Amino acid sequence: MKITKICCIGAGYVGGPTMAVIAQKCPDIKVTVVDLNEKRIAAWNDANVENIPVYEPGLADVVASARGRNLFFSTEVDKAIDEAQLIFISVNTPTKTYGSGKGMAADLKYIELCARQIARVSKDDKIVVEKSTLPVRTAEAVKSILDNTGNGVQFQILSNPEFLAEGTAVQDLLAPDRVLIGGDNTPEGQKAIQALADVYGQWVPKERILTTNVWSSELSKLTANAFLAQRVSSINALSELCEKTGADVNEVAKAIGMDSRIGPKFLKASVGFGGSCFQKDILNMVYIAKSFGLNEVADYWEQVIIMNDHQKRRFARNIVQTLYNTVADKKIAFLGWAFKKDTNDTRESAAIYVADDLINEQANIAIYDPKVSSQQVLSDLDYLDSRTHEANEKRAVSYDDPYKACHNAHAVAILTEWDEFTQLDWQRIYDNMQKPAFVFDGRNLLDGKRMAEIGFKYQSIGSGP
Ligand code: NAD
Ligand code: UGA
Repeated sequence: MKITKICCIGAGYVGGPTMAVIAQKCPDIKVTVVDLNEKRIAAWNDANVENIPVYEPGLADVVASARGRNLFFSTEVDKAIDEAQLIFISVNTPTKTYGSGKGMAADLKYIELCARQIARVSKDDKIVVEKSTLPVRTAEAVKSILDNTGNGVQFQILSNPEFLAEGTAVQDLLAPDRVLIGGDNTPEGQKAIQALADVYGQWVPKERILTTNVWSSELSKLTANAFLAQRVSSINALSELCEKTGADVNEVAKAIGMDSRIGPKFLKASVGFGGSCFQKDILNMVYIAKSFGLNEVADYWEQVIIMNDHQKRRFARNIVQTLYNTVADKKIAFLGWAFKKDTNDTRESAAIYVADDLINEQANIAIYDPKVSSQQVLSDLDYLDSRTHEANEKRAVSYDDPYKACHNAHAVAILTEWDEFTQLDWQRIYDNMQKPAFVFDGRNLLDGKRMAEIGFKYQSIGSGP
């Protein structure tokens, strides 16, 4: 079966970039990305392509190359479902905030709504692809909804999890380590797998397209994120030991990373991992393990989250202790709010939790992030529900100039590793700060020796006393 029309439900950080790249690489396929969120769709259609709602290096160019040609963003969900042969479901699957599994299980209500909508609208056979990250065996539920339409339409369900990382999404999509497609081992299932593999085959080398059964594919996605997050928590756990022993975590990471069995990537100690997925996906895996009574498995993975929470908390605690045990009414400048560089996404960013702890100590936080608006900062803090919106507004003030954010500050904390922070005039920042001038580098971004020469009291993560 040759695919000529694709629909993607969900125009978020995954649906938008993924479909833009498919459209760019497959000019013969009409790709329509739909969403209920009218504002988001309007932003994807903004005449100025720089205003698209997801910031990713290179994405605006990809969108510009295909938008209006074979890439369309729309709120007409039914129409796009009806005309497509292949439908990606790329909606959000957040941690449940209510009912059983609250705080752990994935909330699948959006997935179910999509499945029901597809079932209602479809008049001919379709391939439905799980692009969202889902608990293992979700395809069973999706299939059960789709197979009960009573109108004779045949559905094939594939799992095709996305492995892109934010900040490098375009690069990751253009040259993926692998594309994973899980499907049924029936002739129809294999045909569906082939149809999707042919889409990716237009730019991804064949040997990088891996096919498995549906359950392996679903579980591989959760496993990949769990392993990646585990590496960060492992090196962060060691960072605390380094601080006590005089070892330097950067040196330790380099030394172990040169062992080809360990490898050098994902060994950067930090203030803690953030992002919309690591925590959510591990909690989901913990929940699944518990639901099978696998308590040791659940506890093992939960430790990755416990360590990460500890890392964020001890960063805030260290700031308070270092500033003579009080930050009340002191100005602490935050450089960075996004959960990593090169994205405007702030979901689960460590900055939010560090700020919350410091505001509890009555600090005034002055934030500069090149891609995050003050509304976003406040909405992130409000979401925690620690205090009123007015109290957050009073304590967390955003600046569009890093020098203004740091002016008169008692301390600067680096929360995101934006390249531009290395290029700042640190002498100028020092001259305009309260003394002693403290810098807490949560990303080990700056040259400690040079910072000390300027006069800063500089602390990084995981280097000796
Ligand atoms: P997102 O919140 O940015 O986007 C999801 C979009 O789906 C939203 O715009 C929402 O309005 C829309 N939506 C929800 N229900 C809908 C419905 N019934 N009909 C139409 N639109 C609907 O989420 P995201 O970051 O793109 O993540 C999507 C999925 O991909 C999640 O399962 C996530 O775990 C997974 N994932 C995310 C990343 C990442 O880097 N963000 C990477 C790999 C996988
Ligand atoms: C991660 C995975 O890398 C992707 O493969 C996956 O598709 C995605 O989750 C997802 O499922 O959502 P992402 O969260 O966008 O991607 O970004 P990462 O580069 O993985 O970084 C996650 C967090 O870990 C960031 O806060 C980052 O600063 C932190 N990190 C990462 C470290 O602290 N140290 C490291 O060495 C690496």
